[in-house]
Amino acid sequence: MNVIFLGPPGAGKGTQAKRITARYGIPQLSTGDILRKAVADGTALGKKAKALMDAGKLVPDEIVNGIIDEALASPSAAKGFLLDGFPRTVPQATSLDEMLQRRGRKIDHVIDLQVPTEVLVGRLSGRQTCPKCQTSYGKDAPPRRTGFCDKDGEKLAVRPDDMPDRVRQRMTEYESKTALLTGYYKARGVVRAVDGVGTVDEVEKRIVQALETDAGRH
Ligand code: AP5
Repeated sequence: MNVIFLGPPGAGKGTQAKRITARYGIPQLSTGDILRKAVADGTALGKKAKALMDAGKLVPDEIVNGIIDEALASPSAAKGFLLDGFPRTVPQATSLDEMLQRRGRKIDHVIDLQVPTEVLVGRLSGRQTCPKCQTSYGKDAPPRRTGFCDKDGEKLAVRPDDMPDRVRQRMTEYESKTALLTGYYKARGVVRAVDGVGTVDEVEKRIVQALETDAGRH
């Protein structure tokens, strides 16, 4: 199963991707997580990406295309994959088409997670993230022990791009560059709009239903 998660910042892509990949035994390919790890490790890639990410701007297409091409070559992605945060621009989507064509593969499902802006802003202003495993926590999905990750006990931190002015910039990037991708994939009949408002369990159930039924695809 080859899946793309689309949705604005704070829609719950990362939260749901972790659950869906565990359920289906496929890897989560998150360009945001990979870039944040590169920043934390101080690699050449991280140095190139840091200022843009902190400002809430997209990093150049060729950088993320390279990351995904490499990730798709990994044996762990042979059975399927879930792309979280990629593609984000039309040139990234056309590059992905080329990468998949080369490998004789295609996208089976695009889940378009829909959440109103006021809910997104509320979620991101309360978000804390584990710097090690990238799990996000919020007011409605708190960790068991305040300030520490449930999975690895790491101290949680606020992402630099979750400051209010950066969140506005990320929303603008999404609306001007990423929202177009719903139309790009609709023509292939693989897009399912999923209501992203509700508990994390409720949204997960809706996604599973969308992945497992053909009705309503457009
Ligand atoms: P990325 O990490 O992809 O960030 P994003 O798309 O802005 O998405 P977020 O991680 O903010 O939100 P999410 O939808 O995953 O929501 P989450 O599950 O955390 O990208 C970061 C940056 O990297 C970009 O700005 C760019 O610079 C760069 N980048 C990455 N990919 C790129 C690309 N392809 N091209 C160019 N640049 C790229 O949930 C949010 C909060 O809500 C959490 O606190 C969570 O606990 C809570 N929550 C989740 N679900 C629910 C629910 N149902 N009810 C209540 N709370 C919930």
